[in-house]
Amino acid sequence: MNILEINNIKKTFGKKDAAVQALRGVNAVVRENTMTAIMGKSGSGKSTLLNILGGLMAADEGSFTYAGSPVDTSSNRKLRKYRRDQVGFVVQYFALIDDLNVFENVALSLRYQGIPRREIKRRVKETLKLLGIESKIKAYPNELSGGQQQRVAIARAIVKKPKLILADEPTGALDVKTSAEVMDIFRQLTDAGNTIVIVTHDPKVAEACDEVIVMEDGKVVEQVS
Ligand SMILES: Nc1ncnc2c1ncn2[C@@H]1O[C@H](COP(=O)(O)OP(=O)(O)O)[C@@H](O)[C@H]1O
Ligand SMILES: [Mg+2]
Repeated sequence: MNILEINNIKKTFGKKDAAVQALRGVNAVVRENTMTAIMGKSGSGKSTLLNILGGLMAADEGSFTYAGSPVDTSSNRKLRKYRRDQVGFVVQYFALIDDLNVFENVALSLRYQGIPRREIKRRVKETLKLLGIESKIKAYPNELSGGQQQRVAIARAIVKKPKLILADEPTGALDVKTSAEVMDIFRQLTDAGNTIVIVTHDPKVAEACDEVIVMEDGKVVEQVS
């Protein structure tokens, strides 16, 4: 089963002379329950593709399916609902909120879903435990190492229990050892039923994945299993 089927997606930023064609007709599939890497030079369109697949923006042309159903990106409300319910996002610089402690950072996405307080508490604790950072529940982001911050960011992405996790250069700000730990966590999540798509520059990260999609100049030029 394919969790994502991407069909001729195009995206242009800017207008007229300033127009940049970031995606020029992307076709690819992501199989359920795999780790898939997206590689390619800087500017090849990786982040744009990931942002579209995560419902952060709509494509100009083309379409994609999620778990067999077309994703309706025709309104901001529909995009928001898709993003909220189906996808977990992890980014390079963690994007934690400095003024909130670990518990609050992870709980935030559940609060948006209107889940009762006690249930939120239980799920946040369970997720932090899974990632081995329960002891940091009351800490603030600036009291944590890079690796710990990335674990919190992963906890925040998975606490909603999305099937699909999209990660844009998740190890880009981490040292070799911490990167390997983050990849181990992703593998565990895959074993537990998640699907993970990782944009990366790092050949080691790609090697740890099941599939590699290579992008060049706004197109997929190769997909290797
Ligand atoms: N918001 C934006 N406004 C204008 N141009 C953009 C924007 N986002 C990306 N681009 C351009 O689109 C192209 C693809 O960018 P991006 O998807 O970020 O590539 P990658 O992640 O592979 O480095 C680049 O030329 C980039 O400058
Ligand atoms: Mg990028």
